[in-house]
Amino acid sequence: MNHHIHWQARAIPFQTGESVASALQRAGIHQLGRAPTGQALAVFCGIGQCQGCLIMADGQVTEACLQICRDGLTLQPLDGDADV
Ligand code: FES
Repeated sequence: MNHHIHWQARAIPFQTGESVASALQRAGIHQLGRAPTGQALAVFCGIGQCQGCLIMADGQVTEACLQICRDGLTLQPLDGDADV
């Protein structure tokens, strides 16, 4: 059985224990939207320090690099649009 997270309604498969950042990058998704300041968001440090990967996960702001995938997790960019 395949497990998926959902990035803007797109189903993304993941491996057990994988971070959201890793699963999105494997799927070719590198632009994660924009911060309220207008700065483009993307994975940079990968360890929860830079805040560059902030996204919405089931309605909560979180770092994609720290969030572990679970089946059905719904993800959105902070600004609702990752086409930056
Ligand atoms: S990539 Fe830096 S906090 Fe996630």
